[in-house]
Amino acid sequence: MLTRSASVILSPSEDGYVAYDTHRDRLYRLNPTAALIVELCDGTRDRAQLRHDLQPAVGSDWAHWNDWLDTAIDDQLLLGSAPTEAAMPVDTGAALDAGALARQADDLQRRDRVLAAFVCQQHADELDPDDPVMARRLGELAHIVGRRDEARRAYGRYLARCPDDAEVTHLMTALTESGPPPRVSDRCLKQLYERFAPFYDENMTGELDYCAPERLHHAAAAALGARGDLDVLDLGCGTGLNGVQWRPQARRLVGVDLSEPMVARARAGRRYDALETAEITAWLAREPTERFDVIVACDTLIYFGDLAQVVEPARRHLAPDGIVAFSVERGETDPFALSDSGRFTHHPAHVARVVAAAGLTLASLDETCVRYEYGEPVTALLAVCRS
Ligand SMILES: C[S@@+](CC[C@H](N)C(=O)[O-])C[C@H]1O[C@@H](n2cnc3c(N)ncnc32)[C@H](O)[C@@H]1O
Repeated sequence: MLTRSASVILSPSEDGYVAYDTHRDRLYRLNPTAALIVELCDGTRDRAQLRHDLQPAVGSDWAHWNDWLDTAIDDQLLLGSAPTEAAMPVDTGAALDAGALARQADDLQRRDRVLAAFVCQQHADELDPDDPVMARRLGELAHIVGRRDEARRAYGRYLARCPDDAEVTHLMTALTESGPPPRVSDRCLKQLYERFAPFYDENMTGELDYCAPERLHHAAAAALGARGDLDVLDLGCGTGLNGVQWRPQARRLVGVDLSEPMVARARAGRRYDALETAEITAWLAREPTERFDVIVACDTLIYFGDLAQVVEPARRHLAPDGIVAFSVERGETDPFALSDSGRFTHHPAHVARVVAAAGLTLASLDETCVRYEYGEPVTALLAVCRS
């Protein structure tokens, strides 16, 4: 009799199935006929019976599918006797349980095997549908592999149990296209960076190959020439990766960020002369008590829709001949869009309009890769503006 290996889990996709062998760490993409064969191999049919039942679907193509069946048996995707072999292959697949599958999904995701991770997590969630953590992880992985409907359903089930999760609430906004907020909420950012702070530096500079601070500093240096002794304001300073670039030229380096755990790390790095835990637009709305030669926002305005929210008030805090430098993720939608990642993307034309409307001159607007996300490059716009 033909059966599916016990270690193989299936996930329906738009064009058939994705099958993942949890024991042998192999991913298969099955077209609709292959998917049907795998479904029919349920331990009730031998090859003759399968051929009979498949006749309406494969017609005269049986020879091709008979060969495919041999390959699937050789690969141990399916178990059964191949015509050339009398012995039944032995399935060494271990019994699947939700916890083990979820751990396998984590491990696969760490290795950028996101589709296989999704298939494992989907099965883990099926085995343990009452655990909200399973649903949230399924939402994340469905989201990453672009299965937006499944992500919405999984996040919806999770939020029904955990309605206070500001990050997932925000991601649901991105996935439902219900109109983006003006900027990502403080509650969402605080939650996100409280979780991210302990491994932010390691993750960004290691796995994600983050180089926005160097690239933005390089672009700004061209506009600043040989100027030193600079008073620098770092908006969304985070742990201080951007401050590293500016410290050698800074007479005074001030950092502002709303995430206390991120600011605590910046404080521990001892690079800033002053650090404040505050929301940027609230901070900029204050009457200026000092003026800055450089106002820099590196990878921070990705959390804002209309960039005028920051660029216009920033101008009031600039010293004569000061510059504003910022990076955003480049998008195709003019003026900007909230992407599935929960971050905003911005169109170059929007950047140019906002800068001009703030009475600044665009000294340069470069496009470059500043990091990787699931192995794909993230293209940023680096804007340097003169007063
Ligand atoms: C991706 S991190 C970048 C950190 C740092 N600039 C760097 O390049 O490593 C974004 C930072 O911006 C901060 N941030 C985002 N929106 C903010 C806001 N409205 N007010 C204050 N900080 C904000 C976040 O808390 C986070 O620390």
